[in-house]
Amino acid sequence: MSSKYRVKDVGQYLGQEITLKGWLYNKRSSGKLHFLQLRDGSGIIQCVMFKGDVSPEQFELGDKVTQESSIIVTGTVREDKRSPLGYELGVKNLEVLQMAKDYPISPKEHGPEFLMNYRHLWLRSAKQTAILRIRDEIIFAIREYLHKNGFVLADSPILTPAACEGTSTLFETDYFGEKAFLSQSGQLYAEASAMALGRTYCFGPTFRAEKSKTRRHLTEFWMVEPEVAYNDLDDNMDLAEDFIKYIIRQVLTNRAADLKTLERDTSKLQATVEKKFPRIDYTDAIEILHKKGNNTPWGGDIGGDEETLLGEDYDTPIMIHRYPAAIKAFYMKRDPKNPKVVLAVDVIGPEGAGEIIGGSEREADYDALLARLKEQGLDPKGYEWYLDLRRYGSVPHSGFGMGIERMVRWICGLQHVRETIPFPRMMDKIHP
Ligand code: 4AD
Ligand code: MG
Repeated sequence: MSSKYRVKDVGQYLGQEITLKGWLYNKRSSGKLHFLQLRDGSGIIQCVMFKGDVSPEQFELGDKVTQESSIIVTGTVREDKRSPLGYELGVKNLEVLQMAKDYPISPKEHGPEFLMNYRHLWLRSAKQTAILRIRDEIIFAIREYLHKNGFVLADSPILTPAACEGTSTLFETDYFGEKAFLSQSGQLYAEASAMALGRTYCFGPTFRAEKSKTRRHLTEFWMVEPEVAYNDLDDNMDLAEDFIKYIIRQVLTNRAADLKTLERDTSKLQATVEKKFPRIDYTDAIEILHKKGNNTPWGGDIGGDEETLLGEDYDTPIMIHRYPAAIKAFYMKRDPKNPKVVLAVDVIGPEGAGEIIGGSEREADYDALLARLKEQGLDPKGYEWYLDLRRYGSVPHSGFGMGIERMVRWICGLQHVRETIPFPRMMDKIHP
């Protein structure tokens, strides 16, 4: 039962008879012809069944076969300039493995709630498979970039005894009588690995009990977190910019057909690859906002509206750095030139993509770090091992976390993050 031939490769078999295995995506008939759209996950091809070419039983089967039935079609590959694929199949034989009965998702429009409830089937649609292939490309590019640049993968645990990103979004669980949490970020462990390997990254699922329903928040999402010993904030920003450009370039090169399926205007993705990202000091950003009529005070958070206002003048991502210490995590290093701010950077994507990367230079000094922990009401006992990294060969170091679903949302030009991951988890969504 192998699948030797795949739709995406049919061009290699022009004029030859091949067998394709997949599902019936859609169908149209006119008198002597059935046009069967076969999908196999790599693409969709039109299989043309002509009455004169097949037995009456076969032609009737072509008439009866239903949407999403599993089918095996044998036929000859022909050129078809009008189809997006460029080829069609002249059907010699159709086999139906299982006749699907009343597939719930018809080609007509359905609301998002209906589709989310059938997420396990919705995944089969042309749009959703395009998104998943782009997601795969993004993840492949990430691993390729990091591997090529000497980063060693060292994954962080998911069950953890302490918080990384504040205590308000922790999922708690009982760990044999001890309290444990699902990891919000693998960063603290990545710092330990960076002291061992110099350049490292972790890449895994992360969890936040986000009680807000927004178009960019999931409760379970994937984050890639590079961490580099001896990198300062500027090095960190250079890395983030180069990393993003590499990922976009790979998607534009390798997933052009899928971007087309999504009707994505790629001009701003192209600009991202070509232009330098502006780097804006938080304090300047607040001034820009005031000039634009937004009255966020110094010390306030830069949220969705502010990100849109700041990003509207550029077609590339922007990097906002040096945020007030009070609104950022305990591990961020204070700016020696201004202790009210930390050496943090957020990368804000264009086109309303919002924050795609959050990172910083880390506090490398033992006393300063201990003070920050206490300031934020965290019990230093839970961070003893982490403090060891400052006791034994502490060095300046930096890193960041990139949210995969935020990247997919931006690159695919999607409104909502729920379509960027096979089975999204949100405050009001755990089924299917
Ligand atoms: O800015 P965040 O919270 O940073 C950290 O967790 C750091 N410890 C990372 C590090 O320095 N190693 O999250 C990083 C990124 C965000 O920029 C965003 O892209 C994504 O993770 N993210 C989310 N994505 C989807 N749903 C959520 N609830 C997310 N929260 C953060
Ligand atoms: Mg952040």
